[in-house]
Amino acid sequence: MAQSTGLAGFYRQTPGNDDLVCDGVSLTAIAASTGTPVYVYSAAVLRERYQVIDAAFGDYPHALHYALKANSTLAIARLMRALGSAVDANSVWEIEVARRAGFEPSQIVFTGVGKSPEELERAVALGVKAINVESGGELARLEAIAVRLGRIVRVAIRINPDIDAKSHPHISTGLKINKFGLPLDEARELVQTLTGRPSLALVAIHVHVGSQITSLDPLRRAAALAADVSLDLQRQGFPLEYVDLGGGLGVSYDGGAVPSAADYVGVLLGEVRRTSLPIVIEPGRVIAAPAGALLARVIDVKPRTATSDFIIIDAGMTELMRPALYDAFHRIEPVSAPATGDRHYEIVGPVCESTDVVGRDRMLPPLAAGDLVAIRDAGAYGAVMASNYNRRPMPAEVLVDGGEWRVIRRRQTIDDLLAQES
Ligand code: LLP
Repeated sequence: MAQSTGLAGFYRQTPGNDDLVCDGVSLTAIAASTGTPVYVYSAAVLRERYQVIDAAFGDYPHALHYALKANSTLAIARLMRALGSAVDANSVWEIEVARRAGFEPSQIVFTGVGKSPEELERAVALGVKAINVESGGELARLEAIAVRLGRIVRVAIRINPDIDAKSHPHISTGLKINKFGLPLDEARELVQTLTGRPSLALVAIHVHVGSQITSLDPLRRAAALAADVSLDLQRQGFPLEYVDLGGGLGVSYDGGAVPSAADYVGVLLGEVRRTSLPIVIEPGRVIAAPAGALLARVIDVKPRTATSDFIIIDAGMTELMRPALYDAFHRIEPVSAPATGDRHYEIVGPVCESTDVVGRDRMLPPLAAGDLVAIRDAGAYGAVMASNYNRRPMPAEVLVDGGEWRVIRRRQTIDDLLAQES
């Protein structure tokens, strides 16, 4: 295994010439060993992205609850824990992953618009840091569980601030028409009922307005609202412990400008400082997306139009669903050829769906069957959203760390695929 050069992430030693590597390790070598498709993650990038956000808070009290939904492969969860991160879990199964990765219940916030009674009970029994409550009905169910188990449950109330995150409609959550959280008026009314409900301890107000947000304005407005409500409740005597501002900061998939971690944190601090409350955030994508690439091999090249060809690769919507689901853009570059060229290609997966397009209208150097390509910024919402459609096995995952690489999740086999069937 090649030695690291000290540079972090995916790069070419001399731009335009050499093979694409990850933290100095040859992607060609990894793919030759593991086969394709394979996700490759850079531990150095994961660490750097976490630390930049963490450092931006300076001495202001805060906790980063990494959103496991972005990437919860056990080794990645463990790496985040080693960095000092806590987690945001969106299902009881993410809570179990967090527990197996070594997180304490006090490091877990539990979010989700539809937590089942079983999920709530497990979270109550564990005594997680907070259950982020999304409705009056959920609060009542939670209270009944708490009473039955003789526990006091720590809750945060999730407010739907009716703010347009100006992201893709499928990943915007903060508008009234979205299913998430409680409208402000209802949230205020619900909080007032808490004084007579000793099994419920209100510890925070929670907001999260969407994902892949590339303008700070919606994040500022959501933070301002959470701060205002928190101040108000503090004045009424509610002993709030922190403000939870969710996740959502976007990354640059296409090289365009996005807010820096420092600007983002500056905006949050600007709004929340007046409450003197610690800040919790739940970043997922901004930490994990740039840390991962999906490696795939060209299976076939065939004519499409007079001026363009199809490139059929061995990864598609089953491995990386984002392009098919959100029309999301991911850079695609050949591993052993320059990143761009003058051939017009439509890069598609092997799945029997016309929506299984990984990259539209791309200009690349000439590619042939057997060539390796890297689909960039796939570390978040990539492997976690993979499916077995067409009975395709879940891809392998590799972590590169300190010039060494190892398989952190082996590719599924046909026996794995059939293991639950009779
Ligand atoms: N907190 C809550 C309550 C969330 O719902 C989410 C994401 C996060 C934190 C983390 O957000 P981030 O920092 O990653 O933006 N599958 C979609 C993204 C769905 C995001 C869902 N919620 C995609 O591939 O773009």
